[in-house]
Amino acid sequence: MDAQRLKDSFDRVAGQGDAVALFFYSDLFVRNPHLRDMFPVGMSGQRDKLLRALGHIVAQVDDLPALVPFLRQLGRDHRRFGIVAEHYPHVGASLLATLRHFTGDDWTDDVEGDWNAAYSLVAKVMLEAADENALTAPAWWNGQVVAVERRRFDIAVLRVQPDRPLPYRPGQSVALEVPSRLRHWRYYSMANAPRPDHTVDFHVRLVDGGPVSPVLVRGTETGDRVRMGAPIGTLTLDEESPRDVLLVAGSTGLAPLKAILEQISQRTAPPRVHLFFGARTRDGLYDLEDLTKLAGGLPWLTVVPAVSDEPGGHGFSSVLTSGDGDVEHGNLSDVVAGHGPWDGRDAYVCGPSAMVGHTVEQLARLGVARDRIRLETFADAQR
Ligand SMILES: Cc1cc2nc3c(=O)[nH]c(=O)nc-3n(C[C@H](O)[C@H](O)[C@H](O)COP(=O)(O)OP(=O)(O)OC[C@H]3O[C@@H](n4cnc5c(N)ncnc54)[C@H](O)[C@@H]3O)c2cc1C
Ligand code: HEM
Repeated sequence: MDAQRLKDSFDRVAGQGDAVALFFYSDLFVRNPHLRDMFPVGMSGQRDKLLRALGHIVAQVDDLPALVPFLRQLGRDHRRFGIVAEHYPHVGASLLATLRHFTGDDWTDDVEGDWNAAYSLVAKVMLEAADENALTAPAWWNGQVVAVERRRFDIAVLRVQPDRPLPYRPGQSVALEVPSRLRHWRYYSMANAPRPDHTVDFHVRLVDGGPVSPVLVRGTETGDRVRMGAPIGTLTLDEESPRDVLLVAGSTGLAPLKAILEQISQRTAPPRVHLFFGARTRDGLYDLEDLTKLAGGLPWLTVVPAVSDEPGGHGFSSVLTSGDGDVEHGNLSDVVAGHGPWDGRDAYVCGPSAMVGHTVEQLARLGVARDRIRLETFADAQR
């Protein structure tokens, strides 16, 4: 199997735009009408989710050590759609038909052989993980909303009681479905370390025009039901590492980092932790009160809030350690860089993709090894 040939082949096809996803789904549903119900009713805007992901994943088969853990999670996570082994060949056949159609005369037996081999391998890893997981875990968790705090017009903190413990590591996310938007699953990060009562908090920011987040932020009340898929994600604490920790959160990107912070605070000898929390405006720092209270009682923790779209006031910056209410001004990545150097730290970064990208660049420039930076971006176009 020639990985470079797969990558080139997929890039050429993907470059042909929306028509590719349209062809794939038409082919899939014409040949297998029974699969249509597994997908959301309205698919505009997310048409290419599965197809793009498939292409990118299959084209990475030359990096199995990185890919296998991800595929195993994906396989477990797919159980929530009701997908079983017999579905995989149908998706594989439509993928091949789509690639063949858009490749035209350049399609060769070798390329077809590569794709078949790669898809089979990916499907095998996903299915094995799903089967193993089925022995011990449900395909999804039912949850009930037990508290809703509206922190700002577009940000809410929801507390959910799952019907059985959700086995996750701080920093991970689950796909969540609300009854009024069936099959529109969206990922949200658990914002707390596991608790004795098993409740989980989610920090949700409303994305204008999105189908799910406005329902969660504006329309959700206590008593409402949700469903949750298997926990996923690699933005988890490196527990072996002796290094101090840098947490950089943009808006609700705070959620997984707050869970990691809680996990660290349960240690007998916590490392030094700096948490940078950024938003455009002061009222976007929706959890600052809580963080400030926390920092006041924990000598190893420093919280630095920052806003990017409000004028700077006195023209200098001050670090917040105990609730003086002051914030720094500037782009979060610049504020973080201004407090550097950060070499010798483990960094965890989460938020909108541009913010994450800039921050990672700055950290690398300041000497943080790339393999000491773990990150998550929230825009689902990344997946
Ligand atoms: C692993 C992971 C964890 C996540 N955790 C959280 C979380 O803890 N809290 C949270 O509020 N959101 C989180 N998200 C984003 C969340 O899954 C939804 O995408 C978001 O709530 C919008 O949902 P929607 O259905 O309203 O709109 P969508 O249909 O998801 O998105 C509509 C459009 O907005 C873009 N978009 C989506 N999210 C954002 C964003 N955050 N900023 C800018 N553009 C965006 C999409 O690319 C799309 O073009 C996470 C995403 C991922 C992949
Ligand atoms: C190699 C095999 C496969 C890979 C790599 C793959 C990958 C993905 C990825 C990455 C996503 C988006 C992540 C998410 O939102 O959870 C996704 C979504 C989905 N997949 Fe798969 N998948 C595979 C096989 C299948 C099969 C066989 C089916 C069966 C029909 C399927 C059905 C779905 C559905 C219904 C969604 C949600 C679509 C949406 O919300 O738009 N997948 N897949």
